[in-house]
Amino acid sequence: MKLGVNIDHVATLRNARGGIEPSVLDAALICEMAGATAITVHLREDRRHIKDDDVLNLKKNLKAKINLEMAATDEMQKIALDVVPYSCCIVPEKRQELTTEGGLDVISKKDKIKELINALHSKGIIVSLFIDPDKNQVKAAADAGSDYIELHAGAFANAFGCEEQDVEFNKLKDAAEYARNLGLKVNAGHGLNYENVSLMNKIEGLCELNIGHSIVSRAIFVGLEMAVKEMIELI
Ligand code: PXP
Repeated sequence: MKLGVNIDHVATLRNARGGIEPSVLDAALICEMAGATAITVHLREDRRHIKDDDVLNLKKNLKAKINLEMAATDEMQKIALDVVPYSCCIVPEKRQELTTEGGLDVISKKDKIKELINALHSKGIIVSLFIDPDKNQVKAAADAGSDYIELHAGAFANAFGCEEQDVEFNKLKDAAEYARNLGLKVNAGHGLNYENVSLMNKIEGLCELNIGHSIVSRAIFVGLEMAVKEMIELI
């Protein structure tokens, strides 16, 4: 299982003072050096953390795969087709949310998402859809022609250590198995941390975990390189 590091919150910190520190590119290079196979950045409509120039700069200077998280909008489609990241992960986006709150509703937006996937595929960009561990959404993702799904692990993370943990874990496990049987490749992310991540090893066939908040938080105490290495050790 591989690790993609989401470095949005390096940009959050930089933007707090409006300057250039800490450098998003330097953070990405350290993650890459520490063994991350992908660097994920979410270019939000309101540009609250990652900015357009960050994406261009990463594309120019990184060897690691760039996974661009984005909403299914015309603006983001155009940017992705211009930049051509290794992969795009399509997420739902609400202006008011603190972070991506739920999975994408592929069922109700199937035609729009299918069009977006075709456009991204025309440039060789791999596509992942960020969805809840719900079999109907998994099926819709497969029907829409996605390469990957990323299972939203947030409900599992919130239930970790509580009564509902097993129920939420089994939802991820079952959805992953169902997806693999439909020919989808499966990633997972959101809310994963140094305590709960080991359980992801029990889900057969997960390709990659996308982790941001816990790694950037840990980096404050042990440095980014060590924070990434510790997470890789656990997965
Ligand atoms: N995957 C997706 C699709 C996300 O939207 C996020 C949050 O930006 C993550 C993974 C990483 O979540 P966390 O920051 O909780 O590790």
